[in-house]
Amino acid sequence: TRSLEPPPERAAGAMAATKGRTQMEVGVDGVAVITVCNPPVNSLSVDVLLSLRENYGEALRRNDVKAIVVTGKGGKFSGGFDITSFGGVQGGKIEQPKVGYISIDILTDTLEAATKPLVAAIDGLALGGGLEVAMACHARISTPTAQLGLPELQLGIIPGFGGTQRLPRLVELTKSLEMMLLSKPIKGEEAHQLGLVDSLLSSDDLVHTARRWALDICELKRPWIKSLYKTDKLEPLGEAREILKFARAQARRQAANLEHPLVCIDAIEEGIVSGPRAGLWKVFNSTCGLLFSDTCKNLLHVFFSQRATSKVPGATDLGLTPRKITKVAILGGGLMGSGIATAMILSNYPVLLKESRVRKGKMTEERYEKALSLVTGVLDYERFKDVDLVIEAVIENVKLKQQIFADLEKYCHSHCVLATNTSTIDLNLIGEKTKSKDRIVGAHFFSPAHVMRLLEIVRTQHTSPQVVVDLLDVGNKIKKTPIVVGNCTGFAVNRMFFPYTQSALLFVDLGMDVYKIDRACTKFGMPMGPFRLADLVGFGVAVATGMQYLENFQERVYKSMLIPLMMEDKRTGEASRKGFYKYEDKRKATPDPEIMEYIEKSRSMAGVKPDTELLKLSEKDIVSMVFFLVINEACRVLDEGIAVKASDLDIASIFGMGFPPYRGGIMFWADFIGAKYIHDKLEEWAKRYGDFFKPCSYLAERAAKGIPLTRFPSSASASGRLRL
Ligand code: NAI
Repeated sequence: TRSLEPPPERAAGAMAATKGRTQMEVGVDGVAVITVCNPPVNSLSVDVLLSLRENYGEALRRNDVKAIVVTGKGGKFSGGFDITSFGGVQGGKIEQPKVGYISIDILTDTLEAATKPLVAAIDGLALGGGLEVAMACHARISTPTAQLGLPELQLGIIPGFGGTQRLPRLVELTKSLEMMLLSKPIKGEEAHQLGLVDSLLSSDDLVHTARRWALDICELKRPWIKSLYKTDKLEPLGEAREILKFARAQARRQAANLEHPLVCIDAIEEGIVSGPRAGLWKVFNSTCGLLFSDTCKNLLHVFFSQRATSKVPGATDLGLTPRKITKVAILGGGLMGSGIATAMILSNYPVLLKESRVRKGKMTEERYEKALSLVTGVLDYERFKDVDLVIEAVIENVKLKQQIFADLEKYCHSHCVLATNTSTIDLNLIGEKTKSKDRIVGAHFFSPAHVMRLLEIVRTQHTSPQVVVDLLDVGNKIKKTPIVVGNCTGFAVNRMFFPYTQSALLFVDLGMDVYKIDRACTKFGMPMGPFRLADLVGFGVAVATGMQYLENFQERVYKSMLIPLMMEDKRTGEASRKGFYKYEDKRKATPDPEIMEYIEKSRSMAGVKPDTELLKLSEKDIVSMVFFLVINEACRVLDEGIAVKASDLDIASIFGMGFPPYRGGIMFWADFIGAKYIHDKLEEWAKRYGDFFKPCSYLAERAAKGIPLTRFPSSASASGRLRL
């Protein structure tokens, strides 16, 4: 118990010594406590690491220090290596890392090899480099809720401070592979069961117990474990090799275009086969290459762009504080409404769910009850008077939505935020019958709404900045990545990805194989090709969206008859078990030779002959033809001010459409290819296949002047250009 412990108060004259970003305090018990102080998450910048090394060296030299405890200030051990040391996004350019990587590896080595025992006291989080420092200590004490993990692979690099060697030796190979390859942290509780953590305690007792633990090691009452040389958890070589073989196959399948997961597995294997020093050496040799790779550059861009989405001119720069949203109401408990309700209740928002189906008898009582167990179901507006946010997700029908917003204005209080989840309808049209146009905003979720990260917040010229700030706050609280965009058909995401299916439909009429196009896109890194996506969304929605586009962007719509022909035979996508693929085995999509009949009809109706040149295209060329059109539309979205900055479209493409993050997002990738190349290709195809491919003026201007597409805006300020 505590009373038996030596009092941890300071020895006379042993005041806290602050060296750079760590602080050392030596107690009368002879324990030096080194605290990392680098708010907000005690990230390990080069300064912090140098100061840690300095304080640590002093603790080793001092005769009055018997043992050492490392901890973090403010309830967080460390969020990991300071990512800003890798460089930042400046004018769309990523600076390459400035860090002397080897010095850090040596630091963890020094920590472990020390002559005085060292214990990590972990609260809050120990991620990346933070966990690697903790693993180099001789014991770890943690709170049950602390997050421990090595998420480096998310940034295109691998754990560089010994984590590849120490983690498998502490938690066994399979678990360590899962933690590293999936960048998946675990809680203190699980870490304790696995042996990564030696004891669990509440925050209040953490440092106190860690001091005692360190002294116990000193007095040989507890083992002095150097995890780099632990072997008891390692599987026999043959078994380990099998596990690694399986991991390699899985990494190749899940991320075929990525090299760094394989480099990570190689380093782990080297450590197991030839010893941890050889493993570390392998990490060191590959680290520089990974740090300078396009993958790392792209993933860093995504990291910084995600943060930048919260900076919205004309809203977040006005010094507004988000209002408290306590109660949320959702209208419509269908596919989207129930997903949105789930996202809300998972973040502890009480939800009122208003449905109409029970009355209509379309939804079974049982299904409705299930939904009700999560939320409070209502059939009228009676309880809407104290609701702070309404999200309407009823069927896509203008008249119904107009009526609903007029009703909401009557029943809700005057500050209630009135949001719609419409995917195509102009917000001004929806709000036509209300006076509260300043409270109307789009909250466009993506299906399935409780899973997909993106939330497109759509503002009109009337939406008040306060409402935007409120919804941004809710979006963050329900763990979404919100981007704020202007009002137009399809908003930013659906609009820029409309050509994804359009161009594919044209190529099929011109003779290309449906499955070849899908394969090319998935090999590029998309979760599904345009045809598999159309099956998932359903042809009904695809046609309705097409009609909206036809009304607004006539010259850019390819009027293929393929989908309408299939619909005539009730072939409407995955829901009907038949679309471009057949779905005999629940969700498994299998190519279906029957579609040839429809394709041939569609081709003859289009009056086109197969283009032999097109048939010779490689998968890479097919990807270009599909995505250059997406880029063209994304450029228009930027030029019209629908998006505030190019990096928002990168985030939107990744979190809304599954564009591969390791390519940096649609616009970042476009600049990697080069505006001029894209422009010239589109011009060439426009001459051959028609205006459908014509490059827009934004792209043409940038291509001619050699200006990157992501450098935006070119002439006016972002807020000045923003079209609402
Ligand atoms: P859904 O048909 O699955 O659900 C609509 C629900 O609204 C039904 O349960 C219906 O009974 C209910 N409803 C109809 N009238 C109502 C009323 N007066 N009061 C209360 N409930 C009423 O449709 P889904 O797919 O959930 O779409 C809803 C909205 O979300 C649409 O505006 C759609 O454009 C939009 N959206 C759909 C996406 C998708 O992938 N399905 C993605 C993003 C937005």
